[in-house]
Amino acid sequence: MSTALYRKWRSQTFDEVVGQEHVTRTLQNALRDDRVAHAYLFSGPRGTGKTSTARILAKALNCGAPEGERPCNRCATCRAIAEGRMIDLVEIDAASNNSVDDVRELRDKVGFRPSEGRFKIYIIDEVHMLSGSAFNALLKTLEEPPPHARFILATTEPHKIPATVLSRCQRFDFRRIPAPEIAQHLQHIADEEAFQAETEALLMIARSAQGCMRDAVSLLDQMLSFGHDQVSLAQVQQVLGAVNTQTVLDFLDAVAARNARQGLALIHRLMAGGVSLPEFCQQVVEQLRAIMVLQMTNDPALLDDLPAETVQQLAAQARQLEPTTTIHAIKRFSAAITELKGSFQPQLPLEMALIEVTQGEIFAPMVANSQFQPAARSQTRPAASAPPPLPVAAAGEAPRSDAAVDAETTRRLWSRWKEFLAQVRTQNGQQVNAALQAVRDVAVADQRAAFAFGNNEFSRSLVAKLDVLPGVSTTLSKFLGRELSLECQLGDRALLSGVVTTAQTPPTDGPDPLVEYAVSDLGAQVAPNPVASPPTEKRTRS
Ligand SMILES: Nc1ncnc2c1ncn2[C@@H]1O[C@H](COP(=O)(O)OP(=O)(O)OP(=O)(O)O)[C@@H](O)[C@H]1O
Ligand SMILES: [Mg+2]
Ligand SMILES: [Zn+2]
Repeated sequence: MSTALYRKWRSQTFDEVVGQEHVTRTLQNALRDDRVAHAYLFSGPRGTGKTSTARILAKALNCGAPEGERPCNRCATCRAIAEGRMIDLVEIDAASNNSVDDVRELRDKVGFRPSEGRFKIYIIDEVHMLSGSAFNALLKTLEEPPPHARFILATTEPHKIPATVLSRCQRFDFRRIPAPEIAQHLQHIADEEAFQAETEALLMIARSAQGCMRDAVSLLDQMLSFGHDQVSLAQVQQVLGAVNTQTVLDFLDAVAARNARQGLALIHRLMAGGVSLPEFCQQVVEQLRAIMVLQMTNDPALLDDLPAETVQQLAAQARQLEPTTTIHAIKRFSAAITELKGSFQPQLPLEMALIEVTQGEIFAPMVANSQFQPAARSQTRPAASAPPPLPVAAAGEAPRSDAAVDAETTRRLWSRWKEFLAQVRTQNGQQVNAALQAVRDVAVADQRAAFAFGNNEFSRSLVAKLDVLPGVSTTLSKFLGRELSLECQLGDRALLSGVVTTAQTPPTDGPDPLVEYAVSDLGAQVAPNPVASPPTEKRTRS
């Protein structure tokens, strides 16, 4: 294969431009109705078809074939353009010809009639690179274009184009091409070039190209030279330095099972195998995002850029993970990607994230620090003097505490829980009363209270409903004799974000080696259940 694949496979007709139908269809209609504008601006990310479409339009405008068949790619004009020897088509690369003289030269020539075709066509690529005076010169031309001239400006940075120029152009935004469409195009090339390619390998190439078709085709080219006209998933993973999908799924299994030990062992293996941890972490976040989508929609069709088999495995994990844990994990592992890049210890931020996500309840301060908010929190009305939402804290910063858990009140509420439930029954009804039976832990601080519902999302969401929660808050406020806003949470511990206590008794039976490691080596602080262990409250460093 001598020419690069992406050159060889430049789209030659509107139908061959993948993923930009909103542009190509409009242009075809304009050609058919003879309403082609004087000037177009094609904007969009690199490698999405702007230059290709500009050339196709140039061909179509001058093509000798009957309407509806243009460009024919057979007539003299079409062939001349394809071979780059058509004098009525002027392609200017503004990146290298950006001076006012270059544009003046264009202006001087624009008056001449086309020599062969119907139109003289100017394609100005990277138009945002023009100097200010060059833009002014261009504007003059665009304001009074000769009837036989057509302009196509292309740019990846439309925000750098002066509004005066923009207003003279009909604008088309090229979009990033979705991975499934890229993969399909790659398959088409593979078929035409007669080589074997695994579907999953093509999907992986497509995903890594992030919407840029040129990159995808180049990568395919690279794989071919590497794999002797065979493209396999293993090969693509090797070339991309990617971790195989199964490893990521195994890691998520450990997260779902809250098995930090298993996850740490896996990270250890990755390190030993020389895998790039930021990339691994990125894939973890991508898969978690897929899990989140499944949990929220239960619609695998939204994940059509992933292989069916992977989606099946993710669906199993989606059932296993609490939705709140998924969100927390996405936030925490996303933060870890950045932290990993600046870490003096290559694996530490990932290990920390893993431990915090899997041992979330033990590491309350960190959880608050990473802004973990139970789902119901957004539904509670913050009381007038409730602490403001926590700012996004930089990693390693000491957790903030705006209030301490009011142990006295917390204990009073817990010891009179049956009484409280009786009041709920009369004030808020039998159903709410039944839902509150699921509460495993409570916490009160200042003007906030939290109820933890274990993993009973059904009961939690029932109480957290917008038309239920204020009523329960009122009953609770009356019961405790003070204004409180209530949060409903999942988990075995009621946690008020930003609220920290110190322990008198260890949170688990016997020391957990993992916790000890986190405390002694990683500087973590342990916040146990304030109810289970009668507390000495203390504000943490602020
Ligand atoms: N929408 C597309 N459909 C099919 N192939 C495409 C598409 N977009 C890009 N390609 C492939 O990428 C190559 C480069 O495309 P093109 O020059 O049109 O991109 P561009 O948008 O002008 O990029 P740049 O902003 O970098 O100039 C083409 O030769 C073709 O192989
Ligand atoms: Mg281009
Ligand atoms: Zn033609």
